[in-house]
Amino acid sequence: MRNINIALGRNSYGIIIGVGLLETIGEQLSKLGLNGKAVIVTNPYIKELYGNKLEKLLEGAGFRSCIVTLPDGEEFKSLDQAGELYRRFSECNIERMTPVLALGGGVIGDLAGFVAATYMRGVPLIQLPTTLLAQVDSSIGGKTAVNHGGLKNIIGAFYQPDLVIADISSLATLPPEEVLNGLSEVIKYGVIRDRELFELVETNISRLTGKNRPDFDLLEEVVFRCARIKASFVEQDERDTGIRNLLNLGHTVGHAVETVSDFRIKHGRAVAIGMVAAGNIALRQGIFPEADLARLTQLLSRAGLPEKISGLDVSRIMEATQHDKKVSGGKIRFILPRIIGDAFIADNVELSLVEQVLKDCYE
Ligand code: NAD
Ligand code: GLY
Repeated sequence: MRNINIALGRNSYGIIIGVGLLETIGEQLSKLGLNGKAVIVTNPYIKELYGNKLEKLLEGAGFRSCIVTLPDGEEFKSLDQAGELYRRFSECNIERMTPVLALGGGVIGDLAGFVAATYMRGVPLIQLPTTLLAQVDSSIGGKTAVNHGGLKNIIGAFYQPDLVIADISSLATLPPEEVLNGLSEVIKYGVIRDRELFELVETNISRLTGKNRPDFDLLEEVVFRCARIKASFVEQDERDTGIRNLLNLGHTVGHAVETVSDFRIKHGRAVAIGMVAAGNIALRQGIFPEADLARLTQLLSRAGLPEKISGLDVSRIMEATQHDKKVSGGKIRFILPRIIGDAFIADNVELSLVEQVLKDCYE
């Protein structure tokens, strides 16, 4: 088992990572001084996989529990579903110190987190991430949100959880596409801050994606290394105005690719394309070595992630890339890699260079 502490003054909390940790839920809640009642928020699919068991574990540990399910899918990360949760919380007689246990991927974590932040002006929140993406990213750092009016994560709050429990065993049931979604972010962490992590993934890519998965020891190490980086960024920059921005490597072009493809291209795949675009921009600026870019594209391709765009209109990707971004004098802000293991915020990337790179990244 691995432990990380996020030092944020009164909002400090722990992340525990290991195999079979859901079994320890009663003990973990007691350590936080929580007792009596707990509410589990999940979706029907995860309820069957882990929720019912969690409910029994809570009962065995002396908790009264209430399990609330939402339909599965990004489209349900909405104010309507938040309203539904408030209603169910009220039916469950939730009190100020009743913990909300967000059991699922990033959709459940973001939505249950938002409701926990606002119900009775804030009730305790325990993140129990069950996807690789949620374990390495979304469950950590306190960003909670719902989508609204066609805009992603537009209504939300910074609300740190009281504890994150990443039970590695839950990754055993993850479908291959969801493994890829998380793996793309894992590779991103390697490029931003951890060359050893990148090498670990390079050496073990078939054990992470192949038939022999899951390798729990390997996954524990991978999740730990990513969570440690995110924890450090969040400690330094809780509100995401500085170093935390580095987590957006590959996301500027990535989001544009997702949008222009009408979300046909999934997040992890789009981020992979975005990372290669950022690598190419940095290469052409004489910053990122060609050998590192080759290693990145090879690793993505061995993982089954794309490095090139196909079937999309580059001019629309360019338009979407500039959406919401400060563009001045034909220049845009980008996260760029310096080497594998170090990235930085570049304020003055020429839009013409971005366009050229996107054209060259076209199949
Ligand atoms: P998700 O929550 O939609 O989960 C993906 C799919 O996997 C779902 O169908 C889910 O039911 C299923 N699933 C979850 N755990 C499983 C398991 N153990 N076994 C089998 N199936 C399982 O997607 P996600 O990738 O986890 O999260 C994406 C969301 O996270 C987006 O809404 C995004 O905006 C958000 N996000 C938030 C942050 C943040 O900092 N808050 C960061 C990144 C992403
Ligand atoms: N996923 C980006 C962040 O938490 O800042």
